[in-house]
Amino acid sequence: MSIISSDIQKAKAILENEELVAIPTETVYGLAGNIFSEKAIKSIFNTKQRPLFNPLIVHISSVTELPNIVKEIPKKAALLAHKFWPGSLTLVLEKNKNIPDLITAGKNTVAVRIPNHKTTLALLAQLSFPLAAPSANPFNRISPTKASHVAHYFKDQIQMVLEGGQCKNGIESTIIGFENDEPVIYRLGAIAIEEIEKVVGKVIVKNLAESNPNAPGMLKKHYAPRTKTILTSTLEQEISKYASKKIGVLSFHTSNQSHKVDFEIVLSPKQDLKEAAGKLYDAMHQLDLLELDIIIIEKLPNIGLGKSMNDRLQRASF
Ligand code: TXA
Ligand code: MG
Repeated sequence: MSIISSDIQKAKAILENEELVAIPTETVYGLAGNIFSEKAIKSIFNTKQRPLFNPLIVHISSVTELPNIVKEIPKKAALLAHKFWPGSLTLVLEKNKNIPDLITAGKNTVAVRIPNHKTTLALLAQLSFPLAAPSANPFNRISPTKASHVAHYFKDQIQMVLEGGQCKNGIESTIIGFENDEPVIYRLGAIAIEEIEKVVGKVIVKNLAESNPNAPGMLKKHYAPRTKTILTSTLEQEISKYASKKIGVLSFHTSNQSHKVDFEIVLSPKQDLKEAAGKLYDAMHQLDLLELDIIIIEKLPNIGLGKSMNDRLQRASF
C-alpha cells in the first residue's frame, strides 16, 4: 500500500505520536517531526542519515508564534517576514531558551519560516507544536518536489507522505541571518536576491561552503544525482566529448539537435526562470532513473532564480 495520503487528521495523529510525516511545502517536501520530541528529532536525523551538526528549520503557521521561537526580531527581519511570509524565506535569529539544542545543532540561533502551502498550513494550525522539517531526501541526494519522490526514498522508513501536489517553487527557501542587525544571505533560494534587496537594500551573500563547511545544505557536494553529472555553459561542446556514452541532457530553453543525446529535458522553452526552478529537481530525478552514463546540465543565466539554481547545480556536479 502506498504511504501517500491526503488525510490531514492521520498526519496529525502520527506527529502527535512523536513519529514522522513528510509534508508538502511550496519549495520542496520536508521530513517533519515535533520540535519538542527528542524521539522525533533523532528520527529525522537517522532517517535522512544527516550529521547532527546540521541544524533544522522550524516551521510555524503564524507570526504570532515567532516570539515563542526567537528572542529578538531585528527591524529588517520584521520587514522581510512581513513581505515574504507565508513563503520561501527562512530567517535565522537568536533562539529562545525552550528551543532544543538538537534542532539548532547547539547554536544560539534558530532557523524559522512559515511555508506557503495550504495543506501544511492547515496541519500546523491544528498542532500544538511547530514542525522541524529538513528537505525529505537522504543526505546529499536530490530534494523532493513531488510526493512520489519522497515515497521512492523513504517508503520503508516512514508511515506517511502528506499529498500536496507538485511544489510550486521547486527549490529550497532563501536563508537569511543577521550580523549586527544587517541581513546576510546564507543560502540562495526560491526568493531571488533582487527581490530581497527591494525590501532591505543591498545584502551580503556569504557562501557558507567557504565560510562554514559545517552548514548543511552548503556542503560542496549536495543535491546530487547518482549518475555522473556535469554542469556546463557550452552544451554542444560538452556533448561531443562523450560521443560513445549514454547521455542525458537538461537544458534551459532550446532543444538540442544532436543525435548523440539519448534523453533530453528542456526546462522552459519560454525562458522563464521561475518555470525552470519549478521543474528542475523533478527533471533531475527523472534523468537519474534512466541509468545513463552521464547527465549534462546547461548552466542557467546568472541572474535572479538562475543564480539559486546554479548554486544547487554546482553542488550536484561537484
Ligand atoms: O525550503 C526549505 O527550506 C525546505 C522546506 C522543507 O522548508 N527545508 C530545507 O531544510 O531545505 P534543510 O534542512 O534541507 O536545509 C536547512 C538549512 C541547512 O543548510 C542548515 O545549515 C540551515 O538551514 N540552518 C538551519 N539552522 C541554521 C542556523 N541556526 N544557522 C545557520 N544555518 C542554519
Ligand atoms: Mg536539504
